[in-house]
Amino acid sequence: MNTPLYAIPGQRAPLADAPSKNPVTGTVAGTVADTDGDPLSRARSVAEVLAHSQVESVMDLLDRDLVGLAPVKQRIRDIAALLVIDRLRRNLGLAAQAPSLHMCFTGNPGTGKTTVAMRMAEILQRLGHCRKGHLVAVTRDDLVGQYIGHTAPKTKEVLKKAMGGVLFIDEAYYLYRPENERDYGQEAIEILLQVMENQRDDLVVILAGYKDRMDTFFQSNPGVSSRIAHHLDFPDYSVDELLDISGHMLDAQHYRWGEGAREAFDAYLQRRTQQPHFANARSVRNALDRARLRQASRLFAQRDRHLDEADLCTLEVADIRASRVFQTQP
Ligand SMILES: Nc1ncnc2c1ncn2[C@@H]1O[C@H](COP(=O)(O)OP(=O)(O)OP(=O)(O)O)[C@@H](O)[C@H]1O
Ligand SMILES: [Mg+2]
Repeated sequence: MNTPLYAIPGQRAPLADAPSKNPVTGTVAGTVADTDGDPLSRARSVAEVLAHSQVESVMDLLDRDLVGLAPVKQRIRDIAALLVIDRLRRNLGLAAQAPSLHMCFTGNPGTGKTTVAMRMAEILQRLGHCRKGHLVAVTRDDLVGQYIGHTAPKTKEVLKKAMGGVLFIDEAYYLYRPENERDYGQEAIEILLQVMENQRDDLVVILAGYKDRMDTFFQSNPGVSSRIAHHLDFPDYSVDELLDISGHMLDAQHYRWGEGAREAFDAYLQRRTQQPHFANARSVRNALDRARLRQASRLFAQRDRHLDEADLCTLEVADIRASRVFQTQP
């Protein structure tokens, strides 16, 4: 169905297409394509928009599933409020440019950037800012070609895939290589800039990476910087937060700590966070995977024993203490 959402020439492009499957939830969310039949476009109050978009369930999930990140969550609530009001304005036919929603997520590895970006895509879709609400995650190699003439088609292909959703560019600063005079990254940046400006109603670009490198990138690329409306910083997690995160991860996979095992994992984290290549929640996930492996070997060795639910779900102190992290001095 191709009915324009609202018919103000020169303003936002018509929202088209059939409802599409949400890649995160697997559900087909309420679409904004159908003006007459769509309750979202008849909403006149915040409560009505929230009810019809079901955006609150995504926000609740964000609050519940993600430990810490209070400033990030607050910022996302603010953006959601902006989108709700923008929706009410559009419903009354009030002309406005689509709000700029391009973002930059800075933080160390494993601090939740990709996870939050996926939720963001879902929120954008539920509120009718994006048609599809999917996330296309790329790095430099997906955008920039090796030879002359290869970059533009590559970048355009990625943009085509991401249209109607979120384009997430990880370690975005690698696009710019000042030491290399004839670097094709610049070409990709130029194309991105055009799309960020002209198609901001149909594509949200999120750049992600380490904060200091991102800052340097912005200094050299003021055009990109000026098109980013929201900077969100993802701080490293404290050991207590990492422990909470481990609890969430175990819950989700039907595991639990045995007697004293949570304390052992606390001691593990105290040591691991001091070591090189620590990657926040990602390292927690990896450590739990290894603990599961040890639990499995432990149970496997007891061939004739009948294993009950508790046996199969419990990670014991030994499963944690066997880690290499405990073999070195703290
Ligand atoms: N606050 C949190 N609460 C619960 N789980 C989290 C949290 N932050 C991250 N995770 C989990 O940790 C893992 C890594 O997160 P994610 O991939 O989003 O991090 P990232 O910042 O994108 O990392 P990278 O920079 O390495 O790409 C995921 O499995 C995610 O679900
Ligand atoms: Mg990531």
